[in-house]
Amino acid sequence: MKINDFRLECYFEKYEFTAPYLLTQSDCESMTTKELLSLEPGAEEAYLNQWLGYTETWGDPELREKIALLYKNMTAEDVLVFHGAQEAIFGYMNVMLNEGDHMIAMYPNYQSAYEIAKSVPNCELSLWHIRDDGTKWVVDFDELEALIKPNTKIIAINSPNNPTGYTFTNEEIKKLCEICRKHDIYLFSDEVYKGLELDGDKRDWMADHYEKCASLGVMSKAYGLAGLRVGWLVSKDHETLKKVVKFKHYMSICDSAPAEFLAKVALKHSDELLERSKNIIRNNMKIADEFFDRYPYLFEKKPITCGPVAYHKLLVDMPVKEFCQLAVDRKGVLLLPSYIYEMDGQYFRMGYGRKNMPESLAKFEEFLIEEKFAR
Ligand SMILES: Cc1ncc(COP(=O)(O)O)c(C=O)c1O
Repeated sequence: MKINDFRLECYFEKYEFTAPYLLTQSDCESMTTKELLSLEPGAEEAYLNQWLGYTETWGDPELREKIALLYKNMTAEDVLVFHGAQEAIFGYMNVMLNEGDHMIAMYPNYQSAYEIAKSVPNCELSLWHIRDDGTKWVVDFDELEALIKPNTKIIAINSPNNPTGYTFTNEEIKKLCEICRKHDIYLFSDEVYKGLELDGDKRDWMADHYEKCASLGVMSKAYGLAGLRVGWLVSKDHETLKKVVKFKHYMSICDSAPAEFLAKVALKHSDELLERSKNIIRNNMKIADEFFDRYPYLFEKKPITCGPVAYHKLLVDMPVKEFCQLAVDRKGVLLLPSYIYEMDGQYFRMGYGRKNMPESLAKFEEFLIEEKFAR
């Protein structure tokens, strides 16, 4: 299999562990193992006694139960656990896409969601664009329906979206599922940022609405536990899950026992952890709003309703790629420019999930002043 480089991961490989001011990360603030274990009486002792043999390929049965409880209509049998969300995407797309298939991917999107389709010979890819209407990011369902062909096999969406923050309402979730049902199309629903509804309107998991939907979740983003590398696919479509598990036999085989243990502890305290992440984002939003109010001539701020990222527009007369390069070179402030998403336009992703965002934003402001962007 030949596949193009993962542009975002290549970019992060260069800066994520060297740039001191990460102003673009898409995960929420993490914590130590000790902090996580302290949420549950007796968990630290139990963790030290965790058996380190192989684990079940489908995932720890108790963990599968806890994941199923996040959904309305799911049981442990509907859950397949993975080594992170990335493994789930790779496995699903590889088993589902064949020569002659057509896939539609919401765009921009996490690269693996559409790149695997490009790597399959004679597999056709169409992009359903999230568009900037001048104030916010929007989608058009008529545009989506116009892209559907007789051989469309999968629609791959990501909501809350990375990088735009665009999030379907519950009405739109139902509408999307109806479109897929009408045309008998599989829905791959990347919901890794779910749980961070800042507008107070809790979104449904899409797999609860459509039997051919595989819903992707993970501990990395909303829970701030990326180092666990625990993700999952949840679906009533067991035929597909059984195919994907056969592919998993060639990838990780099974998940890490300590990680599964810690994921169970975290999910027992799901609401508490999600609240912690939302509070960090809300505090950062206030500070970022004040920052953007000072520089309306430099940036067009896009709103966030859900999730930890926003995709703002740069109004400076300099390519956004150069602007972001200058910020990281001069001040160690990392932003993610739109060329990484192979997108036109002067956009950059900002992450609101880290506790040190105020400090990173202050460094960014210093950069704007010293480089004379600020007047
Ligand atoms: C939309 C989306 N899907 C999937 C992933 C992969 O998640 P993980 O790092 O947990 O494998 C990411 C990571 O950035 C993402 O943004």
